Amino acid sequence: MNVYNNNNKRGMEALAHARGRYTPLQMRDLELLLQLGYTGELSEAAFHSLSGMLSSDYLRSFVARDAYTSSVSWAVHTEEWQEDLRKLVARLTSRTYPAVLEIGAGRGLLGAPMRKRGLKWVCTDIDPALGSDVQKMGALIAVRSYLGEIDVVFASWIPYEAEWDLELANLCADNGLPLVIVGESGGGCTGSEALWGYRSFSDRYDDEGDEIPEEDLPELPERRFKIEYVGELMPGFRDVPQWDGIRDHTYCALPEKGSTCPLRGGWGL
Ligand SMILES: C[S@@+](CC[C@H](N)C(=O)[O-])C[C@H]1O[C@@H](n2cnc3c(N)ncnc32)[C@H](O)[C@@H]1O
Repeated sequence: MNVYNNNNKRGMEALAHARGRYTPLQMRDLELLLQLGYTGELSEAAFHSLSGMLSSDYLRSFVARDAYTSSVSWAVHTEEWQEDLRKLVARLTSRTYPAVLEIGAGRGLLGAPMRKRGLKWVCTDIDPALGSDVQKMGALIAVRSYLGEIDVVFASWIPYEAEWDLELANLCADNGLPLVIVGESGGGCTGSEALWGYRSFSDRYDDEGDEIPEEDLPELPERRFKIEYVGELMPGFRDVPQWDGIRDHTYCALPEKGSTCPLRGGWGL
């Protein structure tokens, strides 16, 4: 598998842009970073070492991240994180060979390393990357189609302000499926405020800058799940590393306590 041999026009543009910013030595580091990420073989130490060489200022860090998101993935799915994700899924499901449905999978690069770790891993996306083996399917249709065959739903970087992610999380909760989410939580750039149950500054303050009393705020849309930071559910979890200025973490949406459809695995809250 070669990151430069996949007809990825946007990835090639980002790389050309990087050539204008980095020295040849730094380009070598960037290319190694992309290749390791592409094959799922990037360790946490390699990420810190290589990205450290490319991040002398915020702009350079942004250029490296742009190349990475354009050619690999939006979060950095290190080997350590893959291994702990496998453990998390096993604990959530109590299954020897759990099945995971990934929605919005983009290039679907997580499929191969996670299958190598013993999971069944199906990649879907409404607009899969050219040349990938990702199934073309919207998130809600994918979950409904695979109900009964999957134990966990996974999503890394749901698009900012998506209009369907609250329905996705409620659908998972109603069917006792944990939804693992990677990205920035409320106030960040992953998914919608409704998904995170977040009220922005402009929702909480009036035009004069006075805080609106809680009882006068409009009700938040119904969420039949609770989002937990995985580091708290599983102490010691080796989370995705972060690019400068980006707050990537792994979260899990679990059916609310007392739900009519509790978690199907052995690890309810
Ligand atoms: C920010 S990208 C993240 C892609 C990938 N998870 C990654 O980490 O590289 C968001 C992805 O969501 C997909 N997407 C957008 N709307 C969708 C929908 N309604 N159902 C499924 N996927 C969707 C896009 O095609 C895109 O691949």
